Amino acid sequence: MLFKRIKSNKDISDNEFDKVYPKSIRTLSDLHFTSVKVAKLASDFLCEKSNPVLDIGAGVGKFCMIGSSWTKGEYIGVEQRANLCEIANQVIERYELDRVSMVNANILDIPFSEFKSFYFFNAFHENICKDDPIDQSTDLGRHLYDAYVKYMREELDSMPQGTRLVTYYGFLKEVPKSYKLVHEAEGGPLKFWERS
Ligand SMILES: C[S@@+](CC[C@H](N)C(=O)[O-])C[C@H]1O[C@@H](n2cnc3c(N)ncnc32)[C@H](O)[C@@H]1O
Repeated sequence: MLFKRIKSNKDISDNEFDKVYPKSIRTLSDLHFTSVKVAKLASDFLCEKSNPVLDIGAGVGKFCMIGSSWTKGEYIGVEQRANLCEIANQVIERYELDRVSMVNANILDIPFSEFKSFYFFNAFHENICKDDPIDQSTDLGRHLYDAYVKYMREELDSMPQGTRLVTYYGFLKEVPKSYKLVHEAEGGPLKFWERS
């Protein structure tokens, strides 16, 4: 079974993993969703000390599902698009996945204090770059980008020392100065941070 194979560190390609999703979602995966390899690297770091982990803008839950199979931690994904959350929940139910859940909400409604570490794959970029959108179902705009970046930076800054964050791509305006870069992978875009 797919998730057991992830747990036992068998090689799983992204094409193979993405078959858990409907065809319309698979075509989005390359650009919009975390790869199996990156999810394993990020979840190792995020769960090393404590959890739960929040995936900020979780899409169809790919990072959370792989993280919860690969590590012993708990993963919660917040996703503003109801259809993506629904697809994620169907997969979670079909494969009876433990320690992973999705919340259909905007990040502005989620207090970070309930979590111990955070994953962020450039979720707000769609507000300032209209190329290759996931769909047309949400309001987008510069004002929203600014509001999301500000909220995330302030929430992260209010977290205790030792809080961990992994970012994948992006301009990193969401990362407060209180977070120190611990290391980088995948040639630079995958960054591992800890609050000092
Ligand atoms: C690049 S995808 C990453 C998906 C997932 N984290 C992964 O790595 O597979 C970014 C997701 O963030 C969601 N998103 C963007 N802004 C959001 C917000 N303000 N609140 C909740 N979700 C948001 C988008 O709908 C999209 O599904």
